[in-house]
Amino acid sequence: MGTAEIRQALSKILRASIPALTMVLFAFSSTNSLDTTHFLILSSMLFKLRTFIKNIRHKVALSLSLRLHGKNVDFEKLAFELYNASVDKKWGFPKDYYLFHLDQKWLKDMLRAFDLSNNINLGVDYHPMYLSSNTKKEAARMLNRNNQYKDGKDLVSVIELFLNHHKDQLSEAIGSPHRIINIRAWEMLPATEIFGPSDWHTDGFHSGHMKIMLYLTELSASGGSIQLWNNSPLESKPGLVLVFKNSDLMHRAIPGRIGSRKLIELTVQRTEVDYALKPVTGSTDDRHLVAPWLVNKV
Ligand SMILES: [Fe+2]
Repeated sequence: MGTAEIRQALSKILRASIPALTMVLFAFSSTNSLDTTHFLILSSMLFKLRTFIKNIRHKVALSLSLRLHGKNVDFEKLAFELYNASVDKKWGFPKDYYLFHLDQKWLKDMLRAFDLSNNINLGVDYHPMYLSSNTKKEAARMLNRNNQYKDGKDLVSVIELFLNHHKDQLSEAIGSPHRIINIRAWEMLPATEIFGPSDWHTDGFHSGHMKIMLYLTELSASGGSIQLWNNSPLESKPGLVLVFKNSDLMHRAIPGRIGSRKLIELTVQRTEVDYALKPVTGSTDDRHLVAPWLVNKV
């Protein structure tokens, strides 16, 4: 089956699902009229279905290539490697890591936005256009016990201000145009067990991604820190920003002895051209997009 036929078949499924979805909605609704609430629910479901089918389309295209070539190649990984190779060729390489401090004015705004954002749990939501970490149930339970996760969607506006204000430092660290494709935030509670992120690890993202960590509280032995391999744990007043190659450099989070550590984590995708697009986010369990060329489609 060719790509055009697959696209046609998926499009048929989408069209065929609309009446069924509408019927389900009305069957479970308390009234029989299409009021604003029903309309919003229907629109949201159709949008989710559309993105889900888009995702499947990309996955099918990749697995088809796999079968055609008859080799055990991870085409998802390869797509990111090829895309990033052309970014490196055009713009050069990013720095391994880079540190700077947040403007104190932004720090206050960020802390306020952090505190006001909704509390959420890890492992209950996913975005169809993103690769999920697929955290196992037991691991998610431990992570939720050690950390209070926040909804990254509530932080988009404040992150936009941060990106504009610190554009020069970020360009220097990342070395190419880029887009923020995920916003996660959490408060690491003190004296928590050494597990997952607090054990030495690399993040295992596909090529072309970096992370920007915004530490909103002080980094110290009592307040918690982060450590890069072959370096001492970072110590700083509140507002330290660390930009680093999260899948190349071994690192670990260090829980505070007394205080909790509040941070916002931005996932960066380096891009070939400057799309000048707003930051966007998946869910807190997502890593990055399923394919590099989706960077200007979400
Ligand atoms: Fe990590």
